Amino acid sequence: MITFDNVGKRFGTLEAVKNFSLEVGDGEIIGLLGPNGAGKTTLMLMMGTVYRPTSGKITVQGYDVLEKPNSVRSIIGIAFQDPRFDGILNGYDVLDWHLKMTTSLDKDERKQRVENILKALGLWEARGKRTWLMSGGMKKKIEDAKILAQRPKVAVFDEPTAFLDVPSRLLVWDMIRKLREEGSTVIVATNMMDEAERLSERVAIMNLGKLVTVGTLGQLKDTLKGGEVLEVTIGKGGPRLEDEVLTQFKEVHHVNQVDNKILVYLNFGRLMLPKIVEALTSQGYKVESIHLKEVALEDVFLTYTGQQFE
Ligand SMILES: Nc1ncnc2c1ncn2[C@@H]1O[C@H](COP(=O)(O)OP(=O)(O)OP(=O)(O)O)[C@@H](O)[C@H]1O
Ligand SMILES: [Mg+2]
Repeated sequence: MITFDNVGKRFGTLEAVKNFSLEVGDGEIIGLLGPNGAGKTTLMLMMGTVYRPTSGKITVQGYDVLEKPNSVRSIIGIAFQDPRFDGILNGYDVLDWHLKMTTSLDKDERKQRVENILKALGLWEARGKRTWLMSGGMKKKIEDAKILAQRPKVAVFDEPTAFLDVPSRLLVWDMIRKLREEGSTVIVATNMMDEAERLSERVAIMNLGKLVTVGTLGQLKDTLKGGEVLEVTIGKGGPRLEDEVLTQFKEVHHVNQVDNKILVYLNFGRLMLPKIVEALTSQGYKVESIHLKEVALEDVFLTYTGQQFE
């Protein structure tokens, strides 16, 4: 189990992580979702003993990150957001070196594992390519491959598919899920909704350093009662819509506005659609477009943070 107990991290006057508490069970796969600057990487680097928490306590399998950093390092593997392979010549050597430092595999076993992972990721032909000449996506895949090959008890992937093309993303997601099936506890930090949806049983949403909500995908979506969203775009420049104009209907549970886009969480969306258009029009708003959809993780995020992903 991993426990975060009221964890905080300050950089000067900036509180990058605030009062963060969460427990992650053994064998769990959890998504840590949040916009740029939310504090995801900082939190993962504290768990990985790279940064010291300013307050609170983190334990990994019972080991306190401050008291037993070496024990923590021996069970954890982090695929970093910014891959750096200082001084190492090529992808093959990066992986072989990583396994040498983090596992007790012998030379032949390492060779086998490195070969398997490079082939699985379509990087075998490029195994000799100089690391500094690699494309962004290739570097990222090599970084992910380090942890996929290491198979640590606790595996952290920080934005594992940033820069990856679509087939590579699917492949990496698949391999991360397999790692988990083989028994690793997996934490995936991401700002991408589809990644969080594909990879997590539970999702923890972070914003401005804080945990704003956590639950299974189903639980999070259920918190938006009704299960439907009406997305309405109104003409720009008018006064802000009062929520009551729409919450007067008992079928409407919640209204969220970002600029001229209004998200109406409700049930019986199809029946309510004309009534909503009428209510808006009678208040002088010009309805430019309207469409009905199911609640997605993005709506959950919006509701909890008032922020929209780019
Ligand atoms: N070493 C550091 N020194 C000072 N400030 C830092 C440092 N590392 C991170 N920060 C700041 O802490 C905040 C959280 O950053 P962090 O990298 O943890 O966010 P993130 O959620 O991982 O974002 P992204 O999605 O962009 O990766 C940001 O405001 C960032 O500028
Ligand atoms: Mg980050």
